[in-house]
Amino acid sequence: MSLATTIPPLLAAGGGLAFVARMALGSRSAPAVRPETVADWVAAAPMELKASILVFCDRAQELMMWHELGFGSPKEGYPTALDVQYTVYGLDVDVQMRGGHKTADWTDQATLDAFAQYLGVPEVTALSESPGFIRLQVRVLDTLAAPSLLPVAVPEDVDLEAVPTGVFEDGSTWTVPVQGRHILAAGGMGSGKSSLLWSLVNGMGPAIRSGRVELRVIDPKGGMELGYLEPLCTRFSCTTADEMVGQLEETVTDLQAAAQKYRGKVRKPVPTPDNPLVVTIIDEAATLSAFSDPKMQARFERAHGLLLSQGRAPLYSVIETVIDPSKENVPQRQLLPYRVGMRMDEAAQVAMIHGQGARNRGSYCDRIPHTTPGVCFVQEDGKAGFQRARAFMVTDEDVDRIAAQYKPVPRPVNLADFPQERVA
Ligand SMILES: Nc1ncnc2c1ncn2[C@@H]1O[C@H](COP(=O)(O)OP(=O)(O)O)[C@@H](O)[C@H]1O
Ligand SMILES: [Mg+2]
Repeated sequence: MSLATTIPPLLAAGGGLAFVARMALGSRSAPAVRPETVADWVAAAPMELKASILVFCDRAQELMMWHELGFGSPKEGYPTALDVQYTVYGLDVDVQMRGGHKTADWTDQATLDAFAQYLGVPEVTALSESPGFIRLQVRVLDTLAAPSLLPVAVPEDVDLEAVPTGVFEDGSTWTVPVQGRHILAAGGMGSGKSSLLWSLVNGMGPAIRSGRVELRVIDPKGGMELGYLEPLCTRFSCTTADEMVGQLEETVTDLQAAAQKYRGKVRKPVPTPDNPLVVTIIDEAATLSAFSDPKMQARFERAHGLLLSQGRAPLYSVIETVIDPSKENVPQRQLLPYRVGMRMDEAAQVAMIHGQGARNRGSYCDRIPHTTPGVCFVQEDGKAGFQRARAFMVTDEDVDRIAAQYKPVPRPVNLADFPQERVA
């Protein structure tokens, strides 16, 4: 049972002033009708959150914390906690910053550690959604701690702009727009990149079987892991750089022919077995972009750049993974707009995958523990900030099932495909 379902919503304390300000901000809950005291709120709070409730609901306690953590003084004034809400992971506290503070003053790791120590909780994160305000996220429960099983039944008519891939921390399904986006997933060894790829393939499974999706895989790691995918693919390469880059070049040729076919006739083609969405998966792309010889790198960069920049409209999508999302490894990062940030070692890598200031907007890839592979931060279309998600767990049995269940069905021979209208 989550905290949210066991505890009634808590409303901001701190007297009428805070209440008015909270309403002006647009509170996410209805105002309290019953007069309640701080003691009532503390009594009703779960053990792990009692100290936090006391601190953020009792203005004197709150001021003491700001003071002790160096966030103000009687002369300079203090920040103000405007709204306190229970969430699935603990509490969200919306704070009005004091004049002169910057978002980075709050999202700095040493500061967040100091908040966690003060409140006696495992973790505090922070993000800024509007200027002048900061949201502190007091985290006592990781709703993504337990892996989520891969769904066995996927709808036949799966929406390729929303492929089910995992779960968000609020329990809703995380879907990925494979059609219309190129996807880059980055994370350290064992962070769950391959499982993410299998989750995506599973989500597209029925479309692969029917031919609505055509899968082409490049596995520079020799096919040890993704080799099981080969029966589902129309192209699969895993041996030499020449073979793998050659496959990419061939895909660019096909893409240009598709663009020619659609030109002036269809603005937004719909994938069908006759005109499929061609999905190229490149696992550990740095092997080709950075670790091959310069001539091969140049060939890769050209084909990769053309595929990414021209592919979306004529139904050519790319999904690629890298361990380190540095500029050297992914020189064409800007062409991969959907970014999945998995566990990373350094805060600098978070900026590489999610952009400068990503931490201030809630991407904490460098804080994902080794114990929860598959956990990641993603930016959802049209939403500010980043969402924490976990890709589905993929077992060996799942891999065998996917390989057996989603093999493309043989297509009936269409005479129109043959120039002389006869089958040789
Ligand atoms: N989403 C997940 N849920 C649970 N366990 C996972 C998940 N993703 C990966 N794992 C575990 O972590 C291990 C490493 O994952 P893998 O996908 O191979 O990482 P990577 O490709 O990043 O090196 C897997 O063997 C699996 O046991
Ligand atoms: Mg892998």
